[in-house]
Amino acid sequence: MSKQEKLQGVRGMNDILPADEPLWRRLEDTVADCMRSYGYRRIRTPIVEHTRLFVRGIGEVTDIVEKEMYSFTDALNGEELTLRPESTAGVVRAAIEHNMLYDGPKRLWYTGPMFRHEKPQKGRYRQFHQVGAEALGFAGPDADAEVILLCQRMWDDLGLTGVRLEINSLGQSDERRAHREALIAYFEANQQLLDEDAKRRLYSNPLRILDTKNKAMQSLVEAAPKLTEFLGAESLAHFERLKQLLLSQNVPFTVNPRLVRGLDYYNLTVFEWVADGLTICGGGRYDPLIEMLGGRAAPACGFALGIERVLELMRAAGELQDASSCDVYVVHQGDAAQLAALQAAERLRDAALDVVLHCGGGGFKAQFKRADASGAFLAVVLGDDEVAAGEATLKWLRGADGEVGAGRQARVPLSGLVESVIDAIANDE
Ligand code: HAM
Repeated sequence: MSKQEKLQGVRGMNDILPADEPLWRRLEDTVADCMRSYGYRRIRTPIVEHTRLFVRGIGEVTDIVEKEMYSFTDALNGEELTLRPESTAGVVRAAIEHNMLYDGPKRLWYTGPMFRHEKPQKGRYRQFHQVGAEALGFAGPDADAEVILLCQRMWDDLGLTGVRLEINSLGQSDERRAHREALIAYFEANQQLLDEDAKRRLYSNPLRILDTKNKAMQSLVEAAPKLTEFLGAESLAHFERLKQLLLSQNVPFTVNPRLVRGLDYYNLTVFEWVADGLTICGGGRYDPLIEMLGGRAAPACGFALGIERVLELMRAAGELQDASSCDVYVVHQGDAAQLAALQAAERLRDAALDVVLHCGGGGFKAQFKRADASGAFLAVVLGDDEVAAGEATLKWLRGADGEVGAGRQARVPLSGLVESVIDAIANDE
């Protein structure tokens, strides 16, 4: 048989290997605790949704919908489907579908994989993971402040420093319309400075031009009419109150009038958390979305953070220890010892200990090598000798300060093995 080609994963879609698990767990546990402490309840929506949900929700003239969605036709029934590029639209769809908003507002959170066909680079992947929170049915700036405070608490609890908050107000649609007209007039007057993307978006979505990554257009964009100049009294009051609330809680921020976000559903408050030149989290208010997706009009706000980007900051802050280890590694040799070892491992697990039972035979020397590599604190040794005597040998693999091969050992009765192991571990602490 010819040698088979070695298969590789899809570009931009990463395997998350066991060595990264401690860091993921720390993030996931911290996030779950924070969400609970603010009264958010977890929701799990499908990874696949109807394509039209995102077209209608995120907006037809956005990077995500125009060029980044993994869309396909279901070969079995012809439905147009898409792997979710984000979760706000799906969560709102689910809330409407299950009448969740009829008995008052809801605080919901989620985590899971999202899919965008972007050019892969550090911090940008085609399958990435988000944690998000959505406060549905809340109109006031107090809810905006709450989701921002929730973020701040997550950064604090994760040990992250140097995460900066930028905020802006996008006002209401009539205010944006007036601004849009002014922008079109401005860009029309400067047609010769626009790149192809900008020319294409000039009439369909001129606001998105402000989002350009093209350096040659930066000064043009800098001098463009600012939305703040078009905001009415109510929008300004909403924004002012949010700023007061943040100041009252000592959350530093900068107002970035160029912050427009890449999705069309936002109004009033938008915000981003930035660290090391990357946006790790983005969100804001999206009052129009629930009605746009067929629900009874209700205000809402929320955010999503990019897990991979946050993990990178945690790594940089020295949060990564590969804590993969167990309490006990059981080594054994001989048929009778194998039975005793299986039995001993099960009883130790009954006592909530993490136990790795040696599998695959081999001499004691090779087995101890595995035991050392497992990171176990203690080895339980069962050979013919021990089993004949109704005993086990405990061998300390690490000293109190963690150094390998502490070398101590002791024979203990098999009948009291669990207690002896628990004692040995407790005495170490
Ligand atoms: P977004 O700004 O598109 O917002 O994404 C939120 C975060 O996901 C980004 O700040 C970034 O950290 C991460 N992210 C986005 N794309 C990628 C990628 N290709 N690779 C790695 N990380 C990425 C939303 O998704 C909105 N649904 C947020 C929201 C919730 N607004 C209101 N509620």
